Amino acid sequence: MKRSDFFRQETKNVTILSLAVLVSSACEPAMNHEGRLHADSMLQNSVPSVSSVDDTVDRSWSPKSTRLVRNKLTLKHGQNRFNIYCTPCHGDDGAGNGMIVQHGFLNPPSFHSEEVRRKSDDFYFGVISNGYGAMFSYADRLSVNDRWAVIDYIRALQLSQNIRWSDLTEKERRHLTEAKTGGKR
Ligand code: HEC
Repeated sequence: MKRSDFFRQETKNVTILSLAVLVSSACEPAMNHEGRLHADSMLQNSVPSVSSVDDTVDRSWSPKSTRLVRNKLTLKHGQNRFNIYCTPCHGDDGAGNGMIVQHGFLNPPSFHSEEVRRKSDDFYFGVISNGYGAMFSYADRLSVNDRWAVIDYIRALQLSQNIRWSDLTEKERRHLTEAKTGGKR
């Protein structure tokens, strides 16, 4: 499927999905993430032509329910996995210019683009679990915990490239200025 087709398809899914959520929230007032997945899996039966990367996620459980508590250690772990499994294509900084890409492999979109940043953690989880277009699945190399840790690390990378000076606290600014002028690296 061409990328543009995929996005069209995805947009369609979102619309259908929101409808499904509306319908099913009538019987499940406390609609939560699980509910959304549930609605989606019901849809799979009724609308077989609707397919997306997400459809191949094992829907007998909710990925979010397996989500780690974020802390420095999990972030460090995510960074370690990311540097091993993702930088060859996505690059250290996530801009999409890793080694393999420099040798001719299709170059992935930057994690810092508006479009990729806007996508949900679940979408990322689906990509890592099932592959996406030219990208292979990493399900056999990254445990569920590893995947979440990697996603948290990607979010941290995104933040690092897109945060505004005005969003930082006084202490954070001091910290950064010192790091920059202190020459310690
Ligand atoms: C062998 C190269 C390669 C490796 C390694 C790789 N990717 Fe990718 N990735 C790609 C390519 C190419 C695309 C774009 C695929 C397409 O659009 O057809 C992509 C797309 C993605 C996307 C979707 C971006 C979007 O368009 O929204 C995410 C998220 C992603 N990769 C995460 C990861 C993570 C996390 C890892 C490490 C576990 C990883 N990738 C490892 C090549 C790679």
